[in-house]
Amino acid sequence: MTTSSTDRGAPLAAAGVGAPGRPRIDRRTLRTDRWWVSPALTVGGLLFFLVYGLVRTATQKNYWVDDYHYLTPFVSPCVSESCVEGSAHFGEFLPAFPPLVPLAILSLPFLLLFRLTCYYYRKAYYRSFWMSPPACAVAEPHTAYTGETRFPLIAQNLHRYAFYAALVISVINTYDAILAFHSPSGFGFGLGNVIIVANVVLLWGYTVSCHSCRHIVAGKINSFSKHPVRYKAWQQVSRLNGRHMELAWITIGSLIVTDAYIGLVAAGVITDLRFIG
Ligand code: FES
Repeated sequence: MTTSSTDRGAPLAAAGVGAPGRPRIDRRTLRTDRWWVSPALTVGGLLFFLVYGLVRTATQKNYWVDDYHYLTPFVSPCVSESCVEGSAHFGEFLPAFPPLVPLAILSLPFLLLFRLTCYYYRKAYYRSFWMSPPACAVAEPHTAYTGETRFPLIAQNLHRYAFYAALVISVINTYDAILAFHSPSGFGFGLGNVIIVANVVLLWGYTVSCHSCRHIVAGKINSFSKHPVRYKAWQQVSRLNGRHMELAWITIGSLIVTDAYIGLVAAGVITDLRFIG
């Protein structure tokens, strides 16, 4: 992430801008495959998630199913007087919010920061939105590159701190999932629980597979043999880390599915398929 502007001049040279020792090519790329499909899909997927999340968080509706204690992760933790009865698992210590203010005001900024500064998402949106570069062997439109060493991109280094916040939020999501084993007569579970638990497991997978987590677990150890437990943990995290990109996309899908399912049950459009209670 600290490539120098000299290094990044290579794509420009490939485009014919010219650098010693580089072939002068008057086209943006010689690639003949559909290299633009991946960045286009990334733009579509991320925009869809962004718009869906904004609409769902801003509308402040259908986020809680009182009979089964299902709470969508999009408003968790709900801590304001605007929260519907039963949904504020940690109390209502903030005043009522005006319309359009997200009920998950405590967690949303950290979750956004966590995803926005994620090493994978950086690659994804640098390529697809900023086109820096849009694909391998495709020249980028920018003439200069300053890396992540100055404002605003230096803020990407906040990622390790966002990781700690994401850990706390994952614990909260887990707590919500446990409380959701509920029915009007006491214990119970249904399809909603399966979806909620699967989402929580996947969110843990995404969080723990984080590059910062891998570094925190054993990044500064010089001798693995002196720290066998951390070494074991590092191996597990490293294994998951290899799937980080997949988990980044899968959790976008699982968050939407979980929220949509709870929203539809809460709105009375569908009924939860109950196994017990
Ligand atoms: S690198 Fe993706 S969440 Fe940390």
